[in-house]
Amino acid sequence: MKRDTGQNRQITDKWRLETQLVRGGTYRSELGETSESIFMTSGYAYDCAEDAAARFEGDQEGYTYSRLRNPTCAMFEDKMALIEGAQAARSTATGMAAMTSAMLSIVKAGDHVVSSKTLFGSCRVFIEDILPKFGVTSTLVDGADNQAWKAAMQSNTTAVFLESPANPTLDVVDIQAVCDLTHENDALLVVDNVFATPLLQKPMAYGADIVIYSSTKHIDGQGRCLGGCILSNEEIMEDTILPYIRHTGPNMSPFNAWVMLKGMETMNLRVEKMCDNAAIVADALHDLGVFTAVNYPGRADFKQHELAMKQMTAGGSVVTVFVPEGRAQAFKFLNALEVTDISNNIGDAKSLMTHPASTTHKSVEESARLEMGITESMLRLSVGLEHVDDLIEDFARAAKIAGL
Ligand SMILES: Cc1ncc(COP(=O)(O)O)c(C=O)c1O
Repeated sequence: MKRDTGQNRQITDKWRLETQLVRGGTYRSELGETSESIFMTSGYAYDCAEDAAARFEGDQEGYTYSRLRNPTCAMFEDKMALIEGAQAARSTATGMAAMTSAMLSIVKAGDHVVSSKTLFGSCRVFIEDILPKFGVTSTLVDGADNQAWKAAMQSNTTAVFLESPANPTLDVVDIQAVCDLTHENDALLVVDNVFATPLLQKPMAYGADIVIYSSTKHIDGQGRCLGGCILSNEEIMEDTILPYIRHTGPNMSPFNAWVMLKGMETMNLRVEKMCDNAAIVADALHDLGVFTAVNYPGRADFKQHELAMKQMTAGGSVVTVFVPEGRAQAFKFLNALEVTDISNNIGDAKSLMTHPASTTHKSVEESARLEMGITESMLRLSVGLEHVDDLIEDFARAAKIAGL
């Protein structure tokens, strides 16, 4: 991996995952700190004007301005790259900054984008409503239908975007198949791997060109900071992504990068436990027998269970349930919860439940929501780290109160 600066960097791809999460990418200053430093600085001073010129020329190693690179952000980026198995990474202020920067760095007026229909609300709004303002058209397809992906490709398709599992339906896309079609068309595949996390699924192993994260989710994992990350190989980073983000400035704050670094130290323990809890809770919600559907990729009755388990090492931390009646009953159930919070984030240590139609997907047109399967009866649960019995008792009690 090419590094742009810094002594005492702990960068080796020989370490195992757990060691990388704790130590990978760390830069230790001459003070010998054990916890990474927060370099809360916008600029850097030079010993002489010649040094400043040499750094800007790229002839001298070192930092110049934190929009271009910052040591704390670089530690987070290098750790992310090591975990993902990517050559390069850049951190962003939010997951949406990562998604929009990745897409806008690829497309130009006259281009066409293909994407799965089922997306996080803002991702769908960006593709359907914002890209056309810049002369970029799109075709949205049923992500499960490989023929539809093929049919949607046009000679001017330059970027393909997918989320798998998707928010909130958990729909799974065959990443390898879509990747092959994308490359046959000389386009770049951008995968939003937020729900799977870098621990459960490796889109680049299937050939994805760019992977993006909202590090607001499992990477922070404790509901503190917004953040995002864009990962790719060196060539795409240098030639496509950096020329865009250097001059548009979607950067993560060094403080948030530090929080993310601390989050990553325990990420595998948290994600593993959340997935175990989610599997138990999904079974319990199913066994309650009061929901019209319980969706969890790790359950054998999930419509794309086989593909989900081929691509991911566990079922993830998100479960969806459908109440028999609509919004009023869904709200009644949410309002009766005592342990799980009513909240629209995911990947938090605290279990969080939301009604996507009125929150995360409120900005999406009703017809588009229904096309994605987001009905007024749907509730999305992000399972946290509480004792599963407390969660299950809470859901059983709420179901009774809601008259389910
Ligand atoms: C799948 C997915 N992608 C992207 C985002 C955007 O992330 P952020 O809220 O950090 O901008 C979210 C947020 O919920 C998400 O669920």
